[in-house]
Amino acid sequence: YIRMLGDVRVRSRAGFETERRGSHPYIDFLFIFLFFVANSEIEVSVSARNVRRLLSFQRYLRSSRFFRGITVPNSSNILDDDYNGQAKCMLEKVGNWNFDIFLFDRLTNGNSLVSLTFHLFNLHGLIEHFQLDTMKLRRFLVMVQEDYHSQNPYHNAVHAADVTQAMHCYLKEPKLSKSLTPWDVLLSLIAAATHDLDHPGVNQPFLIKTNHYLATLYKNTSVLENHHWRSAVGLLRESGLFAHMSLENRQLMESQIGDLILATDISQQNEYLSMFRSHLDRGDLCLENANHRHFILQMALKCADICNPCRTWELSKQWSEKVTEEFFHQGDIEKKYHLGVSPLCDRQTETIANIQIGFMTYLVEPLFGEWARFSNTRLSQTMLGHLGLNKASWKGVQREQSGSGDDVDPAFEEMDSDILPQEPRLS
Ligand SMILES: *[C@@H]1O[C@H](CO)[C@@H](O)[C@H](O)[C@H]1NC(C)=O
Ligand SMILES: *[C@@H]1O[C@H](CO)[C@@H](O)[C@H](O)[C@H]1NC(C)=O
Ligand SMILES: [Zn+2]
Repeated sequence: YIRMLGDVRVRSRAGFETERRGSHPYIDFLFIFLFFVANSEIEVSVSARNVRRLLSFQRYLRSSRFFRGITVPNSSNILDDDYNGQAKCMLEKVGNWNFDIFLFDRLTNGNSLVSLTFHLFNLHGLIEHFQLDTMKLRRFLVMVQEDYHSQNPYHNAVHAADVTQAMHCYLKEPKLSKSLTPWDVLLSLIAAATHDLDHPGVNQPFLIKTNHYLATLYKNTSVLENHHWRSAVGLLRESGLFAHMSLENRQLMESQIGDLILATDISQQNEYLSMFRSHLDRGDLCLENANHRHFILQMALKCADICNPCRTWELSKQWSEKVTEEFFHQGDIEKKYHLGVSPLCDRQTETIANIQIGFMTYLVEPLFGEWARFSNTRLSQTMLGHLGLNKASWKGVQREQSGSGDDVDPAFEEMDSDILPQEPRLS
């Protein structure tokens, strides 16, 4: 209820417009207050999108009208139209590492997540294999896309589409493609598409220090990831996409999607990485074993989630700008409310270049180094190649800005020591 109210855009007669809940999670209670005084002085205006989010039965109605093909005017939002022209052309190369998700998002009118995921379900034969109702699938994907906050500079549906596209590239790698079952592919794509669902645009420490209800609900542990997972489960159940499967299978699906999404908690990276490393050292990974396959899929999703620095410079740079904008926005709120500015969030002391170099050094290089040991393919070499070039480019920017290169952002050193690799080692 809090979440729904929080999404209402509030506007006073004087034209003052507060920012939306997505960017100010702690402000939920203010929104409730404003909501109750709405009748007297404050005019509450609800955008079309938020009306739909307000009550899930309204969403239900809309979907079922859509379902029956009535009252929905011809609109460029509809998937059939996405298949026209350039977007369709791009989908033919959906397995290319150079795939430009920003362009694809523009060509599909902001529907990249729906179009791309639907296409991948089709491409992998999942619709046929699991006897999926394509209208239910589309409805599910539309709900997923809408539950991302489009006002987040980074954690929005385009990031989810990008991660899903990267996941598809990894699923195609020879080692995986020859051992994965349709079930594995299904879970991987759903987990990738939903892994940041309803992300509020701030990080876990922020939610904890502002006593956000999600921090309480999930006891300060993988707060965001648990929320993404539970939101995904909610939409899966609401869509009825798998209603024809046994309860046992649906429960298994929900818990396995949870294992995949929870693996994207970056503060747990070191645990996953040391497990990965010891498997590779012992050479005992056996992909006929379902548990081993699921562990590899967790690693693949982790890679997909932080693969931005492994893309071409043009794409990578745009992601860097977006994520920094989101960090700095959090820092601005923290300053305004004297909450203590989180590491990497202070626009006075941080730069994109410093943040990126730290991120690459401590998180991306160790992970992709091990991934390349596991899957030593052209794709892995391409990714490591971009990573090296992009890091060099940011170092160039850093030198121009400060006149002294080779600084690694000290903020990374202050972060949870779990994040720091004990023994950075690239294959
Ligand atoms: C919708 O598109 C169809 C076929 O493309 C066309 O026949 C129909 O007239 C269109 N309807 C509206 C309301 O534009
Ligand atoms: C979560 O962290 C806050 C702030 O450190 C603390 O006050 C609270 O007791 C913690 N909650 C749980 C369940 O650990
Ligand atoms: Zn993510």
